[in-house]
Amino acid sequence: MATESRVALVTGGIGGIGTAICQRLAQTGHRVVACYYPPEKDLAEAWQAARAAEGLDIPIIGADVSSFEDSARMIGEVKGQYGPVEILVNCAGITRDKTFKRMDEGSWAAVISTNLNSAFNVTRPIWDDMLERGFGRIINISSVNGQRGQFGQTNYSAAKAGLHGFTMALAQEGAAKGITVNTISPGYVETAMTAAMRDDVREAIIATVPMRRMAKPEEIAAVVGFLAADDAAYITGANIPINGGLFIH
Ligand code: CAA
Repeated sequence: MATESRVALVTGGIGGIGTAICQRLAQTGHRVVACYYPPEKDLAEAWQAARAAEGLDIPIIGADVSSFEDSARMIGEVKGQYGPVEILVNCAGITRDKTFKRMDEGSWAAVISTNLNSAFNVTRPIWDDMLERGFGRIINISSVNGQRGQFGQTNYSAAKAGLHGFTMALAQEGAAKGITVNTISPGYVETAMTAAMRDDVREAIIATVPMRRMAKPEEIAAVVGFLAADDAAYITGANIPINGGLFIH
């Protein structure tokens, strides 16, 4: 079955994994819109120019996905310009790593609202249209650290584990309506997020990965492309690990 060209929205679209996802979906023929965090407008414009130089026409739109109002406003604008979102990739995420002893309320709240509440904020305004059209693909980008926990990431692990809870529940509500909802749980990926870790900590973690390397963003994007395709219609509520063997269960 051929995959049709669909409207795809990627939050965190200009980030390390998000960029590869946007490229992949655009190369597949979808009309991709990349959502970025508004203070990063200059970065987003440079990103868009870089994509254009690759031959990819990818519109960008700013929104603070930790805000329901701003997310709803953004979804309304995307719908007005390109039509209802049919493929949604919830990829926006941040880290505020610190041991729990040092974990402050601000670092907890920032990660929970950006990494978890965002899934509600962005998906809710899209959901009714997906129900009405009888088609939808929702792909939530979680993390191996939501599956196994990680020293220094109580906030991040909680948010990422919560994201898969969201997937499992929403998958049941979408199943009879043509909407699939799945999670992808990447391990450590070559992005600015992992580059920001202390070198010794990062190297120690890579040494524990059976494949002895980090993932390339394209290795995550390939699975997003697979789940977004029309052919993946019978996969829902799944959590697909892409972690080089770091966590096998
Ligand atoms: N298990 C048990 N003990 C550990 C440990 C671990 N994994 N890591 C560190 N410790 C111990 C240390 O040995 C040290 O012990 P002593 O006090 O007895 O010497 C103590 O805990 C403090 O460790 P640090 O020196 O690391 O503490 P710090 O305050 O300098 O740094 C931290 C804390 C910033 C959280 C740092 O430990 C860290 O960066 N950890 C890794 C967090 C991580 O994996 N982040 C992933 C970011 S990328 C991402 O999130 C993408 C994704 O989805 C995978």
